[in-house]
Amino acid sequence: MKLKRLIAFSCFCGFAQIIFAQKETIIKPNELWPDDKGNHIQAHGGGIIKLGKTYYWYGEERAQGLDSNYRYVSCYASKDLMNWTFKGDVVKMSDPDSMGAKWILERPKVFYNKKTKKYVMYMHIDSKNYKTAQVAIAVCDKPDGRFKYVKRFRPLGHESRDIGQFIDDDGTPYLVFEDRPFGFRIATLSADYMNVEKEVCLIPAHMEGGAIVHYKGLYYSIGSALTGWKANPNKYATAKSLSGPWSEFKDIAPPETNTYGGQSTMLLKVEGTKGTTVIFLADVWKPKTQWDSRYIWMPLEIGDGKLWVPEPKPWTIDVKTGENKLVEALNVGQN
Ligand code: GAL
Repeated sequence: MKLKRLIAFSCFCGFAQIIFAQKETIIKPNELWPDDKGNHIQAHGGGIIKLGKTYYWYGEERAQGLDSNYRYVSCYASKDLMNWTFKGDVVKMSDPDSMGAKWILERPKVFYNKKTKKYVMYMHIDSKNYKTAQVAIAVCDKPDGRFKYVKRFRPLGHESRDIGQFIDDDGTPYLVFEDRPFGFRIATLSADYMNVEKEVCLIPAHMEGGAIVHYKGLYYSIGSALTGWKANPNKYATAKSLSGPWSEFKDIAPPETNTYGGQSTMLLKVEGTKGTTVIFLADVWKPKTQWDSRYIWMPLEIGDGKLWVPEPKPWTIDVKTGENKLVEALNVGQN
């Protein structure tokens, strides 16, 4: 009997390994997204950087059963944007300098400084009523090591809630931050990335989840309205220079869909040998079951000053060629 059980158990483990090792070839917006261990990816309000051939995705770790005395930032690595390996929680932080109970850590973004060889993480840090409105910085020598908290402050003296990260084609890093009630600000970082140095622009629009991409000579910025965890129609504006002038804001999706239930968090440009895909990354928040919050990633229709998120559907990307395809388009002709 014992032997039978052992055999059954080993078969199950083998089977589970096969399932978990299975390669993802499709991005499925709004569905559970298993990492290499089969767990739903916990990288909410995230940010992605590419180092060599590897993409690192950092985000809010909101798994069930975490110690509520700490706040966590997770890190995942991938070479194809579809299969993600969990590298662990790179931040496990206790209350920095007496923020008080239920303090908040959201929207972590990591920048790599080539000169200092340091990985510098910016995050929105706040007290439970969102009145502190600061950024915090943590630093590490590795992209996936434990980051060490350094300090918290208001960038350039301004309130800062949702933050976004933008790295221009020449490598210049920018922090995008929401300064209520003025709008969202774009600012450069100091040479060591340990400070927010100079304001480049204040876009006088009341927006959260700010993100920017530079595509074919134009800057596109997107953001959501201020409705907390509830989705709303996200919008975009364009400018020839980051300092503006910025165009008026327009819808990125049919407004009645409230951005298909998602809130912007980043625009990721994937340049390949045959083309460029710009991906819209959004969070579909589930405030009462945050661990189950989903992601909408969709390749954008973008160019000539227009930006549009098509209806979310399964799709695939080839990071080498930069091409993307909807799965339904791939299936055509196979019947
Ligand atoms: C959203 C924001 C999230 C979180 C939430 C709290 O608007 O983008 O990061 O702060 O509000 O209500």
